[in-house]
Amino acid sequence: DWVMKDHIAEAVEAIRQQVGDEEVILGLSGGVDSSVAAALIHRAIGDQLTCVFVDHGLLRLDEGKMVMEMFAGKLHARVIHVDASEQFLGHLKGVSDPEQKRKIIGREFVEVFKAEAAKLKAGTGGHKGATFLAQGTIYPDVIESGGAKSKKAVTIKSHHNVGGLPEQLGLKLLEPLRDLFKDEVRELGVALGLPPEMVYRHPFPGPGLGVRILGEVKKEYADLLRRADAIFIEELRNFVDASTGKTWYDLTSQAFTVFLPVKSVGVMGDGRTYDYVVALRAVQTSDFMTADWAELPYALLKKVSSRIINEVRGINRVTYDVSSKPPATIEWE
Ligand code: XMP
Repeated sequence: DWVMKDHIAEAVEAIRQQVGDEEVILGLSGGVDSSVAAALIHRAIGDQLTCVFVDHGLLRLDEGKMVMEMFAGKLHARVIHVDASEQFLGHLKGVSDPEQKRKIIGREFVEVFKAEAAKLKAGTGGHKGATFLAQGTIYPDVIESGGAKSKKAVTIKSHHNVGGLPEQLGLKLLEPLRDLFKDEVRELGVALGLPPEMVYRHPFPGPGLGVRILGEVKKEYADLLRRADAIFIEELRNFVDASTGKTWYDLTSQAFTVFLPVKSVGVMGDGRTYDYVVALRAVQTSDFMTADWAELPYALLKKVSSRIINEVRGINRVTYDVSSKPPATIEWE
């Protein structure tokens, strides 16, 4: 609509004013905020923007491919794809404590990103060097960090973010979504041509599958989990609820699969199997502070369970998590 077109035109003009002929780096995660920020800044300054996408090896199935197809392929943006999975998995070896895993993933993420940003700052063939760091900070983030002092002192889970990066890198900040609420960011994303499936995605934690594989993270587990989770998400998107006309993906706030590093006995044909177990988790919530487990239709659970067991060799049992928050948290770690 015209209101949104006006808003885009204004935002584009403001970015051009602020950036001038300088260059910008942006950390692209595949999440809603960084994606919309990237699309908007790219609309404003094209090749003066370089996106850095860090794959820590704990992303969902085909996430890297999807991000590259969208931003490098469709939008023709400059995107650097850093495959750092071996580095991350190496540092996570032998570590099973959830908070320690978060710290390691957060720290390595900053290391990898800083190294890429330093290269871009120095400038490369035809590019004179970046002076801005763009972030997809939205209005609720601004409020949250302003009010951080009043928040309760006990951290239940440390959420990693990249605070302090611009100072460390000696870059100026560009935050074109600072005044927008989440809904407005989504509308803007659609208006900029991002696919609705991307813009209306469930949130995905920074440490990714690192906190959805209980205990020690191994590549084998991550590979099994990615495939099982992709089946769950695909079926949630396929199943339409007759009374609302919405898919179960849209009827849930967050849904994912958790890998349990325990084996259970099963039968297949004439043989016995001894394979891993996964748990499906789906919740409905308005603020993620409290959440109800979602009453998914049995037909959906049945389909997902039989597909995972038949298609993902190595998993022979699927369970459904019927715990609400509190006292259970949404993630298992
Ligand atoms: P919990 O498990 O605490 O999760 O009920 C509440 C929301 O926060 C997300 N979450 C995280 N997000 N880094 C993130 O970026 C993290 O370490 C992290 N831990 C939990 C979780 O996915 C849910 O949306």
